[in-house]
Amino acid sequence: MANETTTIINNANGESYEFPLREGTIGPAAVDISSLYKEAGIFTYDPGFMSTASCHSAITYIDGEQGVLLYRGYPIEQLATKASFLEVAYLLLYGELPDEQSLVGFETIITRHTMLNENLKNFLDGFHYDAHPMAMLVGVVGSLSAFYHDSLSVNEPRHREISAHRLIAKLPTIAAAAYKHSIGEPIMYPRNDLRYCANFLHMMFATPCEDYKPGLIAEKAMNLLFILHADHEQNASTSTVRLAGSSGANPFACVAAGIASLWGPAHGGANEAVLDMLVEIGDVKNVQRYIEKAKDKDDPFRLMGFGHRVYKNYDPRAKIIREVCHQVLEELADADNPLFDLAMRLEEIALSDDYFVERKLYPNVDFYSGIIYRALGIPRNMFTVMFAVARTVGWVSHWMEMLSDSNNRIGRPRQIYCGPTQRDYVPISKR
Ligand code: CMC
Repeated sequence: MANETTTIINNANGESYEFPLREGTIGPAAVDISSLYKEAGIFTYDPGFMSTASCHSAITYIDGEQGVLLYRGYPIEQLATKASFLEVAYLLLYGELPDEQSLVGFETIITRHTMLNENLKNFLDGFHYDAHPMAMLVGVVGSLSAFYHDSLSVNEPRHREISAHRLIAKLPTIAAAAYKHSIGEPIMYPRNDLRYCANFLHMMFATPCEDYKPGLIAEKAMNLLFILHADHEQNASTSTVRLAGSSGANPFACVAAGIASLWGPAHGGANEAVLDMLVEIGDVKNVQRYIEKAKDKDDPFRLMGFGHRVYKNYDPRAKIIREVCHQVLEELADADNPLFDLAMRLEEIALSDDYFVERKLYPNVDFYSGIIYRALGIPRNMFTVMFAVARTVGWVSHWMEMLSDSNNRIGRPRQIYCGPTQRDYVPISKR
């Protein structure tokens, strides 16, 4: 397709303009309309970015029609069953799978950065006891820039790398601390002898008066969920991180912005919303009523965990989770989990309903992830926090990629102005 162009005709003046087609390694080509306004004096309009590629990226590829997800070219199914979360983190950050020595080096760096500055604990103490852990996460991650300003020169590649390592390492510590605060228990320090997920479980569930031995099944399940959540191309939170970072803002501020975006129920907040929904449905006999509510355009209710902007086929991550869900619940002695049975029944009914079939609405990654987190003893309000911990790897990978791209410039969309045309100020006595 090299040298191919697309013609855009401006019906207002009858003139036509040629624009180059840009091609990646796989996936649809994109019309490069960056000079459209300069040449033709018109904008493009694409709310929700339905047809807009915002950047070049070599990190993650999705084929929504076929249900394919690749991290740096590797199928998610292979990584999910064979790799560790930090191995995947290295892959996303640096572009290649690490050899043994590089992996050990990376694990050591991440492990050595897991502690928080002691004064950061004061931030957590300032939150009310019933603050949502996502609220604490947004605030505390944003405040990291006030503590680690020794490496905030975003134009300096080594500084970017140090900040990326700090974020990946400290997110679990902050997340677990937010949880401990919400239940009134003392914060647990990280343990350097434990792997990433086992250490997270330790910080969540150990107390100073009682040791906690993270179980292998729980660690494996968390490792899998973290890999599945690690990156997902230019989703809302990643695009938020990129947009914030395009102004040269520091990475802690950018990731805090990403966490805020993830929190919404249409995005990462869906895993918490799915569990709320399943509890509300309560019994298989109520499923049909909720399906009808989801189809009713006058009812704001949506089937949470269903549908996806890109996947018009089964979300490959949901397929993996669904398969391991049984196994994990059995191993964790939670096999007759009524919510899992309810979720399966809901899925079955929805997938045979014309409304969902016609719109290609399939279960997404969040439909089953909450059920596993719940079986691991993680409370509902922590589900999106878990997602944020895993997605931090994707956010920092995209942020690093963007800043090393010579085409990077500040993100600045335009608008179709629909307000009043110019008018004169009227003194208050005359209004
Ligand atoms: N329940 C009922 N109807 C739905 C649903 C749903 N979950 N999702 C989409 N629809 C309908 C929607 O009403 C519309 O119907 P119509 O064409 O008659 O107006 C059609 O399907 C297309 O939906 P859309 O809202 O235009 O699609 P979108 O690409 O803008 O939204 C979505 C995608 C994920 C926000 C949406 O499917 C949704 O709200 N799902 C529930 C929330 C959810 O599970 N989010 C997690 C996404 S995966 C993890 C992540 O990205 O963080």
